[in-house]
Amino acid sequence: MKALVKEKAEPGLWLTDVPEPVVGPGDVLIKVLRTGICGTDLHIRNWDGWAQGAVRAPLVLGHEFAGEVVETGRDVTDIAAGDLVSGEGHLVCGKCRNCLAGRRHLCRSTVGLGVGRDGAFAEYVALPAANVWVHRVPVDLDVAAIFDPFGNAVHTALSFPLVGEDVLVTGAGPIGLMATAVARHAGARHVMVTDVSAERLDLARKLGASLALDVSGATVADGQRELGLREGFDIGLEMSGRPEALRDMLANMTHGGRIAMLGLPAEEFAVDWARIVTSMITIKGIYGREMFETWYAMSVLLEGGLDLTPVITGRYSHDDYEAAFADAASGRGGKVVLDWTR
Ligand SMILES: NC(=O)c1ccc[n+]([C@@H]2O[C@H](COP(=O)([O-])OP(=O)(O)OC[C@H]3O[C@@H](n4cnc5c(N)ncnc54)[C@H](O)[C@@H]3O)[C@@H](O)[C@H]2O)c1
Ligand SMILES: [Zn+2]
Ligand SMILES: [Zn+2]
Repeated sequence: MKALVKEKAEPGLWLTDVPEPVVGPGDVLIKVLRTGICGTDLHIRNWDGWAQGAVRAPLVLGHEFAGEVVETGRDVTDIAAGDLVSGEGHLVCGKCRNCLAGRRHLCRSTVGLGVGRDGAFAEYVALPAANVWVHRVPVDLDVAAIFDPFGNAVHTALSFPLVGEDVLVTGAGPIGLMATAVARHAGARHVMVTDVSAERLDLARKLGASLALDVSGATVADGQRELGLREGFDIGLEMSGRPEALRDMLANMTHGGRIAMLGLPAEEFAVDWARIVTSMITIKGIYGREMFETWYAMSVLLEGGLDLTPVITGRYSHDDYEAAFADAASGRGGKVVLDWTR
């Protein structure tokens, strides 16, 4: 089968032929229809320091996908050929304390699809049935392909109650954009979004931002004034991984404010701890998605009318992967999706 592979320990990706995956008794074989390109895939393509430490070539990339079940292992009972599915790309051990307690998102031995084992940028992917999410209600195929980052957005945005609250989202990348839509849909009063890309701020407006602010020319405090806030933001969703964004967020939170932090900083950095202490600010790190509470929330949010389609701004054939990856790396648009059927 065709697959997008990191063949050699050097920058680049290769569309090449690899053997079809083996289907174990508890596995599901999925014909891949669409895949989403994630920042992780860009790191692996570029072969940066993180990728060199985390990945062993050869590796089939990819963890964001939607596809159709074509075969199930003999122990699989509730998934059938023909089901439209997405997949949870965190494969957990099932044995550690958190796994045993049902908190699989906190597994200490998580293996990443398309990072620690062969992934979904291929004509077929095999996955344990416990990692497969069946779409029981109709869903747009491109949206089904980005359930993984949509789950990051939902997990973060719904970490704290936000009905009637004023929400600050720092970073209007694909995940910040989806978190904006979720916060709006879930009943926030104001959702202010910051970024330094005019295109992405335009997208944030389409997804329901009350104010989309370019922080290269204005401050978060300016934004607060424009929205008429008197005491700061109640909820912060950090979606940029940038030190200055978290610092600005901390400086603009209300006392007792709560921050859910998804953005992954590249390095350690200093923040105003005295402000965190004296304003009693909560900061919660967010990793992945809760299995499968977040997935349940994603499906029912879509069923309830949440519209994510504006987030998808690039659609390419898998043959055009070079152009698709360049689009995803530009830092300007929204989500880029590859079609594996053409
Ligand atoms: N914790 C997890 O499980 C998890 C999963 C996926 C991604 N991530 C991280 O979440 C973050 C968001 O992911 P993404 O794919 O949307 O990333 P992205 O890199 O596409 O988006 C980040 C955005 O932040 C903007 N930005 C830069 N400086 C800023 C500033 N000072 N203030 C506000 N915005 C600024 C950038 O212009 C960009 O649009 C990244 O840091 C990513 O590494 C974490
Ligand atoms: Zn991802
Ligand atoms: Zn575990």
